[in-house]
Amino acid sequence: MVGDDLSAVSTGLGTRFIGRKIIYNHRLPSTMAVARREVRRGAAEGTVIIADEQTAGRGRIERRWLSPRGSISLSVILYPDIAHLPSLIMVASLAVVHCIRAVTGLQPQLKWPNDVLINGKKVCGILIESGVRGGAVEYAVIGIGINVNLRAAELSGFSATSLSDELGRNVSRLGLVRRLLVEIERLYLSLPGGDDVYREWRDSLLTLGRRVQARLGETEYQGTAESVDQDGSLLLRSPDGSRHRIPAGDVTLHD
Ligand code: BTN
Repeated sequence: MVGDDLSAVSTGLGTRFIGRKIIYNHRLPSTMAVARREVRRGAAEGTVIIADEQTAGRGRIERRWLSPRGSISLSVILYPDIAHLPSLIMVASLAVVHCIRAVTGLQPQLKWPNDVLINGKKVCGILIESGVRGGAVEYAVIGIGINVNLRAAELSGFSATSLSDELGRNVSRLGLVRRLLVEIERLYLSLPGGDDVYREWRDSLLTLGRRVQARLGETEYQGTAESVDQDGSLLLRSPDGSRHRIPAGDVTLHD
């Protein structure tokens, strides 16, 4: 398909540092593993690892992530200030929403903490890995997997979708990746300037106001998702009136 060769991502990208160096491979076990290796080698901030296909894609909470041909799998290496580490989830989620909206006209929604849905089905997963030592961030890697030109029902049944499923036509992966990198850089650079990213993320969350079931380690909480904190935690009100702060985990929406 025209515009589908991801080796051309950095040409004329126009970003300051995200995607100035791209490591592109047709097939990899996981872009996260390559990103960690590149961090150990002293990779520059903004280095991006992209694969057309992953054979051992990693999801959150030790899950597998299927990334066949037609998907986008990429990891971005960052060295943020510790104060901005919790915001990376917000930067990544909003960047995906903006990029899908701009390139396809579809209206994605966010499910806390970092799933991107279209019409209630998951189209993108985001994984953030980081190393912190002595109160400083050693590295952070944003991993993003988007179902683009593939039949999602063949991947994960009815809970997943792809952009081509939604549109009935294929979409340029090159156009999506380029817009995604531009959006990541813009949002990331805006972090020191205030809480706009947090506010937009909070206001985009489908989860708020809904009855949810949230898991924190072995414990399960039920209640209403009242809000999210600046650090990304979900604030959940149980039927007995008690309030719980859920730092990260899995949420099932009811209603
Ligand atoms: C999830 O929803 O569980 C998160 C999925 C994250 C998948 C992406 S694809 C690019 C990067 N490489 C991986 O192995 N995982 C992330």
